Amino acid sequence: MDIRLAKLDDLAAIADIYNREVIHSTATLDTDIQSEAYWVDWLAEHPPDRFPAFVATSDDDKTVLGWSALKPWSTRKGYNRCVEVSVYVHHTSRGVGLGRTLLQTLIDAGIERGYGYLAARIGGASAASLHLHASLGFEHVGTMRRVGEKFGNVVDVVLMGKILS
Ligand SMILES: CC(C)(COP(=O)(O)OP(=O)(O)OC[C@H]1O[C@@H](n2cnc3c(N)ncnc32)[C@H](O)[C@@H]1OP(=O)(O)O)[C@@H](O)C(=O)NCCC(=O)NCCS
Repeated sequence: MDIRLAKLDDLAAIADIYNREVIHSTATLDTDIQSEAYWVDWLAEHPPDRFPAFVATSDDDKTVLGWSALKPWSTRKGYNRCVEVSVYVHHTSRGVGLGRTLLQTLIDAGIERGYGYLAARIGGASAASLHLHASLGFEHVGTMRRVGEKFGNVVDVVLMGKILS
């Protein structure tokens, strides 16, 4: 598997991986499938020097198997040292270490870019995601009980964080 920065050609695959979670899970509380133009804007909002987005591709045919990205935690400048992590792995490629590699890539990118804190929101308190973040040193900050709603169910969101400096 290779990890590299995301580019325009990857957007359809990135959106596909994300949309499955929009439709089927509470990993994201997003409920809308977005347009191609939305994803082009999304990539523009991930300049490599500040909020990089990465893809993991297969060794053989270079298919995009997962992606990860940093994004601002808040538009208020006092929060500039904090960025939020996102990691999504194609459902047929889970459990073989891609999520771990993609999240470690974000941690390294955060350190290289001088951020002080990584935040993660774990929708629906997903066991895989909680385990993944904890195993890479994210601590449990708190559980926002009953904060969200999706598919007619009220859901918890776990906030986790990792201090970098
Ligand atoms: C969470 C997610 C990114 C994990 O990706 P993955 O490639 O399957 O994870 P890995 O194979 O790297 O496994 C990472 C760790 O989680 C563990 N894990 C994987 N699936 C698990 C599960 N269902 N329950 C508990 N632990 C699990 C692995 O054993 C591994 O632990 P280890 O390093 O101690 O052995 C993936 O399930 C996913 O894309 N989920 C939907 C989107 C999401 O929830 N994203 C996170 C919120 S931003």
